[in-house]
This record gives sequence, C-alpha cells and structure tokens, in this order.
Amino acid sequence: MKQRLHVVVTTIIRRNVYYGAARNLSSCGHPKPLSHAYSTARKTLRTSSLVTKSACASAAILAGTIAFCLINAPIAHAEVPISHTPERRKIRLAEVQKHGRDAETKWVTRGARVYDITDWIPGHPGGEVILRAVGGPVDQYWSIFTVHMKQEVYDILESYYIGDIDPGDLVDGQVPVEDLHDPFENDPRRDKRLHVHTSRPCNAETPTEGLGAFVTPNDIFYVRNHMWVPSTSESDHKIVVELPDGEEKEYSLKDLKDNFESTTVTATLQCSGNRRKNMTRESRSTKGLQWNVGGISTSEWTGVRLRDVLADAGFPVDEYPDEVRHAQFMGAEAYGASIPIDKAVDRRGDVLLAYEMNGKPLPPDHGYPLRVLVPGTVAARSVKWVNRIVLSEDESSSEWQQRDYKCFGPNVGGNPDWSTAPAIQEIPVQSAITSLRDLSPHSQADRQYLRLHGLEEDSVAVEGYSFSGGGRRIVRVDVSADNGRTWHQAELLSDKGKGAKAWAWTRWRWVVPRQQAGRWFVVKAVDEAYNTQPSDYDSNYNFRGHLTSSWHRVGYRPPDV
Ligand code: HEM
Repeated sequence: MKQRLHVVVTTIIRRNVYYGAARNLSSCGHPKPLSHAYSTARKTLRTSSLVTKSACASAAILAGTIAFCLINAPIAHAEVPISHTPERRKIRLAEVQKHGRDAETKWVTRGARVYDITDWIPGHPGGEVILRAVGGPVDQYWSIFTVHMKQEVYDILESYYIGDIDPGDLVDGQVPVEDLHDPFENDPRRDKRLHVHTSRPCNAETPTEGLGAFVTPNDIFYVRNHMWVPSTSESDHKIVVELPDGEEKEYSLKDLKDNFESTTVTATLQCSGNRRKNMTRESRSTKGLQWNVGGISTSEWTGVRLRDVLADAGFPVDEYPDEVRHAQFMGAEAYGASIPIDKAVDRRGDVLLAYEMNGKPLPPDHGYPLRVLVPGTVAARSVKWVNRIVLSEDESSSEWQQRDYKCFGPNVGGNPDWSTAPAIQEIPVQSAITSLRDLSPHSQADRQYLRLHGLEEDSVAVEGYSFSGGGRRIVRVDVSADNGRTWHQAELLSDKGKGAKAWAWTRWRWVVPRQQAGRWFVVKAVDEAYNTQPSDYDSNYNFRGHLTSSWHRVGYRPPDV
C-alpha cells in the first residue's frame, strides 16, 4: 500500500514538475520555446533524481517554480483554454499539407484538430523525428511512440491548437486513409521463414534451421525493430561524435572505411525478451512480445572500432575524465540507447561501428549502412542506423534506456518507479534446446550418427545453444532427460569465433537412448564465472519478462511404433 502510494505520488509529481516547470519557465518570459523548457526540466530533474528519491523534494521544486513565476510572471496569459475559444477556424487538409517539413510554420493534425507546432519542434524530447509527421496526422506515429499517450502530452499539444479540419475533407470524421503517410514505406521484403510476431514494426524470430548454424544467415537473423526502417544510403550517411565539451566531429562512411583499420568480430546478439514466452507459460503473464527461443542470432560483424573513432574525434580514450560515464547512441529512426564509457573504449571490448554482416553490407533491417555492435551486451544497446554518438555524464534519456529494458522483483507490478532499477547491459548465462530428433538404427544416416556416439539403439538427439554476456565463456552445458532429476554433460561444439573474448554462442548436442527419455528434456549452462541458470520461473519472474534464463524445458513424446 505504502509503495503504491509512493508510485502514484511520484508519477503525479513527476508529470507536474516537468510540464509545470517548463510551462512556468516559458510563460515567465523564458526566451526558449516551451519544448526547450520541457526538455531542460525533464533532463535536470531526471538526472538530479530528486523526482524519484523524494516526493517531497519534487513538490518543493514545483512549489518553488510556481512561486518564482508568480512573482515574475507578466499578468496576461496568452493561451485561452480550448473550451473557451470563441470561433473554431475551419482548415482544409490541402492547407495542412502545405505546412510540412520545408514550410516556415509546421502543422500537424490529431483526430480532426489542427495544431501549429513550429515553436515546439526545436526542443522536442524525441528530436527531429517529429518532422516526419508535420503536414499531416500525428496519430499513426503516436501509436508507435506510445510515450505520447498521456495527458501531459495532450495538454502540450492543445496549447498549439489553431482550428479544425474542414468536415468536407473527412470521411466518417477521420482523415481519409489515402491522405495518411505510411511510416513503414521503406521497410524491406523479408524472408518467409522468419517467425513474425509483428510486421509494423517488424519483430521476427530466427527459425530453427538458423538456430542450428554457428553463423546465422543474414536473411534469417532475428529482427527486432522498434519503429520503421529509415531510408538512408551509404553515400549520404554521416555520423557525428559529440565530445563532452560539446565539440562535434562528423564522419562519412567513406571516412570510416578509408581512415580506420577494419576489424571482424563474431558476436551473438540476444533480444532481452528472448524466451519471454517460456516465462509466461511457466509462471504468469508478462508484458511484451511473446518471443520463444529465436530472439537470438550470431553473425560475423565487420567495421571499425568505436574506440579508434572516439580517439580520432579528440577523446582521450585511455585517460578520460571521471565525469564522462556513458556513450549514447542515436539511430536515424529515433531510437536511442547508451552503454558505460568503459565498455565503449575497452581495448578488448570489441565495440564496433559495423557496416558488414557476414561479409555483406548490413541488410536494411539490421542497420544499413551503419550500426553499433556491443558484444556481450543486450542487443538493445547495439543501436542500428546510428548517426550520432554523445559522450556524456548521463545515460541516454530515451525511454528504452530509462523506462523499458529494466528488470524488477517478482512482487513488482506493471507501473514501477523505473528509476529504481539499472538499465540492462551485460546479459546473464543462457541456454535453450532448439531441436529434439528421434534416431533409429534402421535408418542408414541415423545409424552412422548413433555409432559416432557409441549407440546402436533407438535414441533421441538433442541440440541447442548456450551463451553468456560480458564475453564469459561457456564451460559446461548440463542436460537432463527426466525433468532435472539426473544430469549429463552435453558435448560442446568447438566453433571458433573472432574477437578478444567469447562473444559468440556455444552450440551443444547430446544423444541419449530413447528408453532413458522421460516426458521433459531440460538444459542449463554454466559460464566461466560459474554463473548458472535458475531452476524455476516464479522466483525469477519480472512483469516485462526480460532476461528470461531459467532452465529451458521441452516436452517429449516418443514416436508411435
Ligand atoms: C506533435 C506534437 C508532439 C508533442 C507535443 C510531443 C511531445 C513529446 C514529449 C512530451 C515527449 C517526452 C515524453 C516523456 O518522456 O515522458 C516526447 C518524446 C518523444 N517523441 Fe514526441 N511529441 C510530438 C510529436 C512526435 C512525433 C510526431 C513523433 C514521431 C514521429 C515523436 C517522437 C518522439 C520520440 C521518439 C520521443 C522520445 C522518446 C524517448 O526518448 O523517451 N513525437 N514527445
């Protein structure tokens, strides 16, 4: 009860502090637009962590801001609440469309209402991506960036209201479909073998055949997109490095290829939601896409070392000041995330600005023409279509760093105080069964395989992957054919990956006589730090189902003979 009260109070106060402080600063004659004041308030208050640590401190800030403004504010207030607007201007859709990206004043619509958001754009917390929507409706973008679906944002938008769409231009009160811009127009065609969870944005698992190979073919590498695939080309693409003092250095892809040594690293990327479906099945419901075991793949990535580029941009990679703590990455579609600076500049960390995947240019879904590769770290930090790097005291302020990829205790429900948990970086030890196959000595192919394993009877071949974060090597994979009562060691395949540490998964296999096979096969792995996977799901439950790594169980039914 106490905790719920705390969450409710801090949420209300946070909303009021950001927006209230921003509005007040803005209406007090602050020279920057409301959006800039909002961003400043949000950033300052978030990083000071006053908002979350103490509701009282936050309330004090709010009260202080209001008091400041009451003393300093001019008496007249320019904005009239919408319900009191005397006459609503009717605006044709064609006129809205003229107020797009290149127009002096930029308009958007939401539902049947029109807004002139020119002043909001420069400091919009989500950056320039907002320009994609100007000259048309925001609705389809906000259903992707759900961070907008709240009163605080609706209030901001209302303050820019200028009129209503002429009813003659609406169909059933809505903007007609042919007038909507499709955010996903640049998405590529995809391989039909992928197991698709959602297509807009695309989220799709690698099929079993891809999970069996050491290096996953590009067209069946799992896809995790948060938004659309942006349209960029190798010749146009630029990446800007912003140093802690604000100085910037820009590189084209050609600059990177011509002036830096290229490196190839074999690395597995795993979505933090991989195996979420297993947690839902074995414990209780979790929020997010229900990935099975295919939210993971391995590739040979080629690119240049981030460390070298940062050094070239003027950052002292071996002796950097203590206050620089994070490398933030921004993608061309608006995604953002960050990693600790020590990882970014680690000589043996193998963090790349990658432009090739298995010897070919990155496919559009995987970041063409340039992405970050952070081996051993949750894939959400390997930002695709990267076009900006900021070295900073702060983590990325994106929702994917601040409010999404985090784990809480089994008791915490769906509305946590996100600031109390660290963002996921290195991932825990993991393993899964990807194939169970019956073998019979009556089949010639099976007979050879059985002989290799010293068997002559009906058997079951079990295969899968194992992997650990931070470059920790897998030292053992334990398998059970009787739901974990007795254990055996699987054979670890000796695939050789490139790179300073064990960044790639270890494939394993086991062949067991069918008469020993019970109803459930189980696997768990052990890494070089002797970390292993938890046996049950309940004690490890988190409501987002992130980093599901409990023993993987697969049901077995012998063939009818
Ligand atoms: C048109 C009026 C808009 C307003 C008033 C607005 C307002 C905001 C606000 C207040 C936030 C911060 C929310 C929070 O952190 O709690 C935000 C974030 C964001 N917005 Fe908008 N937005 C608008 C349009 C758009 C559009 C059209 C797009 C995309 C095409 C967009 C993309 C984003 C993104 C990517 C973020 C950042 C999420 C993050 O990093 O946490 N916004 N916006």
